[in-house]
Amino acid sequence: MSREEDTAFLKTFSMVIGLLVGVTILLIIVATFVIGGGGNEERQELARQRAEQNLKPVGGVRLSGEPMPAVAKSEASGGEEASSGPRTGQAVVQNVCIACHQGGFQNAPAIGDKEGWKPRADKGLSTLASHVKNGFGNMPAQGGAASDEEIRRAIKWMLEEETGLEVPQG
Ligand code: HEC
Repeated sequence: MSREEDTAFLKTFSMVIGLLVGVTILLIIVATFVIGGGGNEERQELARQRAEQNLKPVGGVRLSGEPMPAVAKSEASGGEEASSGPRTGQAVVQNVCIACHQGGFQNAPAIGDKEGWKPRADKGLSTLASHVKNGFGNMPAQGGAASDEEIRRAIKWMLEEETGLEVPQG
């Protein structure tokens, strides 16, 4: 190649590179505009709301004096209760206890596991209710999440109706 040819090649080459760089910059500008452009705040707000909803706990602690949350009145209450008063055993279990007693979390006896529950059921309802209220072994106290009556109902529902055991009163 002669010197002139080299120069000509270099010129064309630089022009092509320059053009590509220009196109790249243009694409970056367009992309920034599309992503950062109109409606961005709205979208962020939507994303925030959705994240908030996803992070909401399934069950909550109700401070005395606070009105019952709407969810407690829904079908989860088994339809037996009026809009106030203690929840049904099923509703309490589904809101509170199921977190541990379905999957056997920290060796919690699972709903339906007759052998696991039998020796515990024999302790009697009063003993069990106080264990649930104040905590027992690996189970933290549940008194903040359910009233005494609700805890009794939850135990009966879990052990008698769902597992098929007898829980003596004692
Ligand atoms: C954070 C997890 C967790 C939650 C929530 C929970 N439990 Fe438990 N529960 C356990 C574990 C773990 C045990 C086994 C405790 C042990 O023997 O160490 C247990 C044991 C029990 C026992 C047997 C107690 C005994 O004296 O043998 C009963 C009854 C019971 N749970 C009922 C309930 C009820 C009713 C609820 C809901 C109001 C509930 N639990 C919520 C984890 C939980």
